[in-house]
Amino acid sequence: MTVNIKVFNDINQLYEEVASYYVEKINQNPNICLGLATGSTPIMLYQKLIMAYKDQKISFKQVRTFNLDEYIGLHQNHKQSYYTFMKEQLFKHIDIQDDHTFIPRGDMNDDIKAIKTYQNLLDKNKIDIQLLGIGANGHIGFNEPGTDFESKTHVVKLAAKTRSDNARLFNHLDEVPTHAITMGIKEIMGAKEIIVIAVGQNKKDAVYEMIYGDININLPASILQKHPNVSIYLDEAAASKFQKGE
Ligand code: GLP
Repeated sequence: MTVNIKVFNDINQLYEEVASYYVEKINQNPNICLGLATGSTPIMLYQKLIMAYKDQKISFKQVRTFNLDEYIGLHQNHKQSYYTFMKEQLFKHIDIQDDHTFIPRGDMNDDIKAIKTYQNLLDKNKIDIQLLGIGANGHIGFNEPGTDFESKTHVVKLAAKTRSDNARLFNHLDEVPTHAITMGIKEIMGAKEIIVIAVGQNKKDAVYEMIYGDININLPASILQKHPNVSIYLDEAAASKFQKGE
């Protein structure tokens, strides 16, 4: 296991460092294949990448992106779909080509077809860097506790904790979809390199278990201990359980 853990007291500095790394990697390999994530955590990274693009430090012209997950049952143009999230937070601000961006489809009324399509895409495209946030219950993508480590893209029933955590973005808990389609753990582990970002106190238990816990399906992120190239970027709050023993 090669896990590189960095803890920052300045969140801006954390994102600055991750963004610089991406700028370097994209310049080294303009055809890079990036695994992207949604949620609050990557937003500041995307803002810094947009700035780097505007400052002409990088181009996304040949970059391909594969997102981790999408809600089932939301139209692509729904305000809270991950399709809309990616468009608003990153894609519409940069020079990426539309047909180079891939997000699993949760709006097809044919989950089997959506699953097969995404599995095939991931079989054909090796992800160079997979970006991950972590759920407070240790989920990665939408791979909830109990997900088989051998899983490929599949449909999941969202945990009550995940739905209530994400309810802040909807008008009411009832509007939060009950299911999602997600890249599987096996596909996430297939990336050449993984970057995890976690900030905030509510992530400290999951972060601790991810790094020091037993590898077990009840804490999906714990499987990352087996990946050969993982970097974990934390703020002090997310690191507080192992730093101060809180
Ligand atoms: C969401 C996403 C995950 C994300 C996680 C944390 O539900 N499906 O990919 O990493 O939960 O979200 P946040 O960054 O908003 O804390």
